[in-house]
Amino acid sequence: MLFPTQSGPIGVFDSGYGGLTILEKIRNLMPQYDYTYLGDNARTPYGTRSFDVVYEFTKQSVKKLFQMGCPMVILACNTASAKALKNIQSKDLPLWNPEKRVLGVIRPTVEAIGNITKTRHVGVLGTIGTIQSKSYPIEIKKINPDITVSGEACPLWVPLVENSEYDSGGADYFVKKNLNELLKKDKEIDTIILGCTHYPLLLPKIRQYAPDKMNIISQGEIVAASLQDYLRRHPQMEERITKTGHCKFFTTESVAKFKKSASLFLHEEVEVERVLL
Ligand code: DGL
Repeated sequence: MLFPTQSGPIGVFDSGYGGLTILEKIRNLMPQYDYTYLGDNARTPYGTRSFDVVYEFTKQSVKKLFQMGCPMVILACNTASAKALKNIQSKDLPLWNPEKRVLGVIRPTVEAIGNITKTRHVGVLGTIGTIQSKSYPIEIKKINPDITVSGEACPLWVPLVENSEYDSGGADYFVKKNLNELLKKDKEIDTIILGCTHYPLLLPKIRQYAPDKMNIISQGEIVAASLQDYLRRHPQMEERITKTGHCKFFTTESVAKFKKSASLFLHEEVEVERVLL
């Protein structure tokens, strides 16, 4: 057994800052718990990387969070959820410690949309990795076989957010371009999933260029509600989560840069440490 069963914070992982949009909503809903956030900012973006590389990087990050004492980890990253979650759950966890848990963000999102779309035509915006993996259409079909799913990869949206350009004219250009491409694929789409945790930062621009009545789904609140439900249904895990209301932040890149960008995402100052994976 590589990691002992122990009490500790909930680990939240993303390739960079995007997972902060999920962490914020989780903390709003469950402020009593402790959290440890890890951003692999040194190696972001993951969206253009191969399956094997995303799996390897995600595995290293999850191991680091387990070493820090987390009983469970949320992959607050669609790319990692699409390309690494299944392997980690089926191959690695049984060897590391079957009592540890790793959960992703795709499944809870997919479970929520069946009640939202009226036309039964859904669009997904995501990284190249998430769209090419076809994880959304595959998971949606399992629950709602009547829903038609179209996807559009937006390779420049994560770099725009990571470089604090989400409010710039460049962001207008790319948001408009990718949205139009998606809506060209299926004119009946009434619901768009923001299938990347960085994209909520672009929400004002997405709303500006999307048709008026479009449902635009950010994942933060959905993932938070799903985690709360999970902890209700798994009291043994819930008991293992420490409850002092603290949150620690770790990055694989510069501490100064993380502090500056994290404050834009979270609207508060944070203490950050650098870690090597
Ligand atoms: N925030 C991540 C996601 O949800 C990813 C981005 C990336 O590193 O490309 O997909």
